[in-house]
Amino acid sequence: MVERGERDLRSTVRQIESQLEFFDSFVSKIVLVKAYLSRRYRFSASHRLHGEQLSDAENRAIYGKCNNPHGHGHNYTLEVTVSGSVEELTGMVCNLVDLDDCVQREVLSRFDIENLNMRPEFADVVPTTENLCTVIFDHLNQDILKRKFTQAHLERVRLEETMMNSFEYSGD
Ligand code: NI
Repeated sequence: MVERGERDLRSTVRQIESQLEFFDSFVSKIVLVKAYLSRRYRFSASHRLHGEQLSDAENRAIYGKCNNPHGHGHNYTLEVTVSGSVEELTGMVCNLVDLDDCVQREVLSRFDIENLNMRPEFADVVPTTENLCTVIFDHLNQDILKRKFTQAHLERVRLEETMMNSFEYSGD
């Protein structure tokens, strides 16, 4: 009985030791230094600012030239900011190739050279650049969470509509 007890105890100790080794190796790969990474992308799209729940006169009064029935285009600059721990092994917060893939799949393939008013995201929402920011943030965030391609966390999306206007959304 004693021998058996000793064997069990040794086996338990071995299991704990191997679990500790695994935990140590996992922790040593992560350096708890938080860094931010921002990357810029460009795309072009057209839109018309028009709220279905408003009268034509109200739409003209609120949106002015942007309510023109033929719409107008913008060359948008999108800045995506992610943050996270710098991984010791790679020295990176997130691999730019992964981030580029994500933005290509979730943003550029949807909105580049498109009429935003025709997109399902804007079926019931006016495609202002504020709303475009939130739509882009949600698409990117869902993809990042779903794929877990990185330790990185989506901090912010910033959209420059013109040289004079920019909009930001952080998911709040
Ligand atoms: Ni516009």
